[in-house]
Amino acid sequence: MEANIINSYTWQSGILEVSYILASVLFIIGLKKLSNPESARRGNLMAAFGMGLAIVATLLFHTKDGESIKNIPLILIAIALGTVVGWAIAVKVKMTAMPQLVSLFNGMGGAAAALISLMEFPHINPLLVSESGLLNGHVLAILLGLMIGSVSFAGSMVAFLKLDGRLGDIKAPWIRYINMILLVGLLGFIAFIMLSSGTPDDMLPMVYVMFAIALVYGVLFVMPIGGADMPVVISLLNSFTGVAAAMGGFLYNNQAMLTGGILVGSAGTILTVLMCNAMNRSLINVIVGAFGGGGAAGQEVGGAIKEISLSDAAVLLSYSQKVVIVPGYGLAVAQAQHLCHDLDKLLDSKGVEVKYAIHPVAGRMPGHMNVLLAEADVPYDKLIEMDDINPEMPNTDVVIVIGANDVVNPAAETDPSSPIYGMPIIKTHEAKNVIVMKRGMGKGYAAIENNLFFADRTRMLFGDAKETLQKLVGEVKSL
Ligand code: TAP
Repeated sequence: MEANIINSYTWQSGILEVSYILASVLFIIGLKKLSNPESARRGNLMAAFGMGLAIVATLLFHTKDGESIKNIPLILIAIALGTVVGWAIAVKVKMTAMPQLVSLFNGMGGAAAALISLMEFPHINPLLVSESGLLNGHVLAILLGLMIGSVSFAGSMVAFLKLDGRLGDIKAPWIRYINMILLVGLLGFIAFIMLSSGTPDDMLPMVYVMFAIALVYGVLFVMPIGGADMPVVISLLNSFTGVAAAMGGFLYNNQAMLTGGILVGSAGTILTVLMCNAMNRSLINVIVGAFGGGGAAGQEVGGAIKEISLSDAAVLLSYSQKVVIVPGYGLAVAQAQHLCHDLDKLLDSKGVEVKYAIHPVAGRMPGHMNVLLAEADVPYDKLIEMDDINPEMPNTDVVIVIGANDVVNPAAETDPSSPIYGMPIIKTHEAKNVIVMKRGMGKGYAAIENNLFFADRTRMLFGDAKETLQKLVGEVKSL
């Protein structure tokens, strides 16, 4: 056996292994660079280069039983098709539709992992089967890859349809019980297949049934989850896809696939935990509970809405010492990030200290506000995380809330019946003055009223954020 391994070690496999290790290193450095907006673009390119290297090396140097890959033209056509479609979608997609796109691409990764398992199951090494039947690591990697990849694919498709507004939430409590039965059933199938004395061909129909059940489970897993919990689910599905891809890495003894899969799996898991913490919820609560969008609950809001004129707002801002801008989803919709930075520079030039308060789930995807403001070249050190800016709120002369709603809703702290109760917020209500820019009295993602808009210290500046900011910049300039 050892002699076989040594004999099968050719110069091609040597180059292949070095390329895979290089690709893995590029993935790791690339991922590290993604943690800072300034280096994120470079990090992304590095990781993409690593993936390109792994693909080219595989095509050129992969051999099996002394033969190289045969169907290269077919593979190249598939790569070209995937590249063109992926490129066209990514170029066209609006920033606000990014979560849907991430979900769609993630689903493709899950589908690829599941298909690998379906293709490989009938081709398990006969030597291995004659030695240990189906009770071996290869079969386990195949079946886990199939289960996790299928759940990730089906779940991501449902998440895509929901985020795109084509599918609503179904909050029937019975789904929870069906899901438990399906999950136990899937694990039972894995145990049954591995412990059976049949050949891979005998077990193939079972594998297809398992595939179908995993798809149904994926759909029902995401179906009841909605509203503000969607980002958590997306990142959870993302980690599933990573784990499913890592199973492929085990199967093919491919270090690049293994490292890539583990990185995606662990990064997705960390992000899931961070987002749960940001919303003050446990993962079990997200999966089983029914928090989220459409919640009609919430305390009665009262008081009168007070508006502020552009000129009054300009005077208030220009004669302040400290201003905090709270960006939200509406800023992204209005694409007003550049004007927002113009206002900030203008106030800066008048000696006003301006900072941005960044809520971890403001917008519609993790890091949405960071990316949006980086696009407008807002210096990164001006973006202050929620926990760091909140203690500064009582000393802030004016807070400008631009297109944010849920992330500044005091009901999260004061109203136990509110669907967002417990979610940490940016405590704008503690500032000396609050100016809210939004088009009208439209609700946010959680579809609930916001007491902040009725508070004594709050004044509304109604209108599209871009138009309002344009006019406000003009007013501040004229002072
Ligand atoms: P939201 O609560 O969604 O509120 C956005 C507000 O922007 C709306 O009330 C809307 O009011 C206003 N708006 C929309 N278009 C505008 C425009 N052109 N000009 C000015 N205002 C505009 O936003 P948020 O405070 O950023 O909170 C994010 C929410 O999304 C949270 O509930 C979060 O849990 C959820 N979510 C987050 C993510 C991630 S990971 N970030 C993903 C999915 C969901 P008008 O209609 O009156 O203008």
